[in-house]
Amino acid sequence: MTGKTAPFCVPFYVMSAEDTPTVATKGFRAPETDHRFFGHPMGLATLFTTELWERFSYYGMRAILILYFVAPASDGGLAMATGTAIAIYGVYSAMVYLLAVPGGWLADRVMGPRRAVLWGAIVIALGHYVMAVPTNWSAWPGLAFIAVGTGLLKPNISSMVGDLYDGDTDDGTRRTSGFSLYYMGINIGGFLAPLVCGYLGEGIGWHVGFAAAGIGMTIALVAYVAFAPRTLGPIGKPIPDEAPMTLKRKVLLTSTAALGVVGIGLLILNLFGLYSADLVIAILTVICVVTPIIYFARIFRNPNLTETEAHRMRAYVWIFVGAVMFWLIFDQMGSTINLFVQNSTDRHIFDFEIPAAWLQSVNSLGVIVLAPVYAWLWIRLGRKAPSLPTKFAFAIVMIGLSFLLMGLLGKMAESQLVPWEFVVVMLLIQVLAELLLSPTGMAASTQLAPKGMSSQVMALWFLAVAVGDSIGGQVGRLQPVLGDAMYFTMLGVIAIIVAIIFSTQIAKLKRLMGGVH
Ligand code: PHE
Repeated sequence: MTGKTAPFCVPFYVMSAEDTPTVATKGFRAPETDHRFFGHPMGLATLFTTELWERFSYYGMRAILILYFVAPASDGGLAMATGTAIAIYGVYSAMVYLLAVPGGWLADRVMGPRRAVLWGAIVIALGHYVMAVPTNWSAWPGLAFIAVGTGLLKPNISSMVGDLYDGDTDDGTRRTSGFSLYYMGINIGGFLAPLVCGYLGEGIGWHVGFAAAGIGMTIALVAYVAFAPRTLGPIGKPIPDEAPMTLKRKVLLTSTAALGVVGIGLLILNLFGLYSADLVIAILTVICVVTPIIYFARIFRNPNLTETEAHRMRAYVWIFVGAVMFWLIFDQMGSTINLFVQNSTDRHIFDFEIPAAWLQSVNSLGVIVLAPVYAWLWIRLGRKAPSLPTKFAFAIVMIGLSFLLMGLLGKMAESQLVPWEFVVVMLLIQVLAELLLSPTGMAASTQLAPKGMSSQVMALWFLAVAVGDSIGGQVGRLQPVLGDAMYFTMLGVIAIIVAIIFSTQIAKLKRLMGGVH
């Protein structure tokens, strides 16, 4: 290559907005001076739209998944035993968040967030379309695709939202408000999806509902491909910390070998007639539980950890355990609660019976309405606003109370159908709990992380969801055994005990967190 052509070798992501626009950066403005999207950079509009439709596909499919699992074959369902269906739902949700760990690693070290999101989006769309094929096996490859794709997309699209504000010179207010706007997008998708996919899935056919989720994901993909070049310019293109070739090769080899060993192992078990879905679920649950233990051990063993950092990580262990308890209950919205709504509620509005899956929209609608109320409250309270450990303790108590209420509804359902509005009240209590814990925990994960380990601690935050969901799936097997009243009450009581233990630690946690609220 001659010296003349050398400038063209400069990757265009090092160009600033003032450089002559190329096809890839045409119309791109530096985010710190761009206020075109409600005061935010245009890039946020692209990420907002992509994530809105990605969540549409995710929650639309999730709203009907368990109903499809347990529906009799005559209704086009898989006629699965309730306990097994709950466990599979749990382990699938857990896989989505467990795979965010390799998804984050691939973006950081191999392909950069921008390409990771693109590939994630393609794989998710494929997964939904596979599920749309009307056979009784298409759900398995479909769910596997969706879990892998979401692992690639979800953590990396949110990190790109953060990147939009790296050049800001304010005190982080615009960044925080950008994330709130982005969270609105998530919940607009989460609100619309169960209405559309629930109506189609329950009313016309399960696979039609899955196809609608696929169309939603296609909109996400098209919006991303069409608008990313002009609105994101260089954002997310550089590979933050590219792995050397030897490491890439080593990871590729070990992961292929590991998958091979698992595949052969399952084949052998099958030959001896020992293979069962339950065994696979149990193994995946163990992996979900062991992975964060390894992460914590690695962080604590790091010789460069300062005393303050070690204290903060000790506090984070408690935060992690609290979050596990929370997600264990919260994510049963799509499984045990969905089944309860289907089997035991009266959902008539005059002559129209609303689809069970429609109740899955309540959470997102609640977030859209109540998030601004909390935001107002925190500003109003100023320095008197509760600290993170206090918010967590409240959130765990409230999630426990929501299940105690479910226990009462379960008791009521033994003699009559329960009005659907009662379940809405329960779901709104969960929203109040979610808004105390989820945004707070996510922000703290970045603040409490030791130097240079923020993506590992972020991975731990996603792993808390994975642990909660996988254990939740195993515990959920008890719902059909114990009956609704007993099952929900038991989990409610456990959460409240955990909350009480957690509250005894509040003072200590505040001390350990050293200045992080
Ligand atoms: N509704 C949120 C979302 O889909 C729930 C969530 C929070 C999921 C944090 C994972 C991690 O993004």
